[in-house]
Amino acid sequence: RTAPAVIVAIDGPSGTGKSSTSKAVAAKLGLSYLDTGAQYRAITWWMVTNGIDVTDPSSIAAAAGKPELVSGTDPSAPTITVDGTDVAGPIRTQEVTSKVSAVSAVPEVRARITELQRSIASAAEKGIVVEGRDIGTTVLPDADLKIFLTASPEARAARRSGELKGADVNATREALIKRDAADSSRKTSPLAKADDAVEVDTSDLTLQQVIECVVTLVEEKRATK
Ligand code: DC
Repeated sequence: RTAPAVIVAIDGPSGTGKSSTSKAVAAKLGLSYLDTGAQYRAITWWMVTNGIDVTDPSSIAAAAGKPELVSGTDPSAPTITVDGTDVAGPIRTQEVTSKVSAVSAVPEVRARITELQRSIASAAEKGIVVEGRDIGTTVLPDADLKIFLTASPEARAARRSGELKGADVNATREALIKRDAADSSRKTSPLAKADDAVEVDTSDLTLQQVIECVVTLVEEKRATK
């Protein structure tokens, strides 16, 4: 018999290895993959590109429904387009990164993107790994498995500055702590661990170890479904 569809929610702050882990787990288990941070980055990119004042929540709210976002969910080649334009590169710039917390705090933005995320998850026939900040708490509260990844600020900053070539570790750590504080303190579905999430501290684990740990947890869930 074929394995039943399994919905996996992976949440946590940045620099915990969330994206690398989620993609690898999905690829290994034949599941779809959705990077919800990329969606918030894409809508932020559209706002910046279209001259929306991202310091003004009412301007953001008024524009929230305008761009059309499409996410490709193959874990070996995830894609993101806005109105048909591939934005995988531009959504990773400093400018977008520094503005995404403000845009993603606006309830109209969250409502729109949450709806999109739910429809993508329900269309994934074999199941899906969805990574973000509020997946286990708000987007998919009935997920089969919820993982909350953590790591010390030092480990997270070191990983991020390794990704952003040549970036200063101290500056990266400050920016990262600021963004996590904003994401954790916003009113609408902040970054939070769901009560029924399994917490995995990745500070002293290799990426391979984190992947193996999550794969085992998913396989255990599947076996009891
Ligand atoms: O995972 P990331 O760093 O690419 O996410 C970018 C931002 O998007 C993050 O600072 C907060 C926001 N985000 C969110 O509010 N909810 C999610 N489910 C995912 C990301």
